[in-house]
Amino acid sequence: MIEIAIDGTAASGKGTLAKKLSLKYKFPYLDTGLMYRMVAYDLIYQKKKYSSNLELESCKTAKKIDFQQSENIQLRSEEIAELASKIASFPDLREILNSQQIEFAKKNKKKYGGCILDGRDIGTKILPNANFKFFINASVEIRAKRRLLEKNISFLHENDEKCMLQSLIIEINKRDVSDVKRKVSPLVPAEDAFIIDTSLIDANELLSIVTNIIEGSSKKSD
Ligand code: C5P
Repeated sequence: MIEIAIDGTAASGKGTLAKKLSLKYKFPYLDTGLMYRMVAYDLIYQKKKYSSNLELESCKTAKKIDFQQSENIQLRSEEIAELASKIASFPDLREILNSQQIEFAKKNKKKYGGCILDGRDIGTKILPNANFKFFINASVEIRAKRRLLEKNISFLHENDEKCMLQSLIIEINKRDVSDVKRKVSPLVPAEDAFIIDTSLIDANELLSIVTNIIEGSSKKSD
């Protein structure tokens, strides 16, 4: 049974990699960042973003959410990302989400022979014995450009584009710092992770590097 753990910085390409690996190997995958985003989204919707006990509110909210993943474009906004990163520093909330992630892995390994999880602490905390661990990163400028492209804005004046890019760089940097510096489950590569910089490669090249590692390694162990 195969566990694949993918961690990395925001917009580094880890989510796309996880989806592509899931299609290739027919293992279900879980975008754990989306779980934090769903809690953040519900907090905003319930007008509890500024609650004086945000940790308690986020735990209550998380317990009510059905995390069957449905892609909702609003979950991808920077406002949601910022709040997701803030609440991700709450240990009690992490415990609630961690147990669901571990359960997902257990269930799908049994059912499909493997699973893929992506996030920030998958290789270090959720699947410490994963068969393969990858840590994906890229320069912040490249990541901001990718996020801008994802927004699919058909026409932007050159100055507006520069402005949006600059604010994305600031937002992504801020989130990196808070993810790396928090006390619980900070964003760090697992000691045994393959670290891959995607600044100069595209999603297909990344997939090919990763599948070579996976398949090369399984050949060795045959
Ligand atoms: O991956 P994504 O950008 O959707 O994650 C949103 C936020 O959720 C991250 O900035 C991070 O703070 C948090 N997160 C986390 N642990 C995970 C996945 C996401 O702390 N396993």
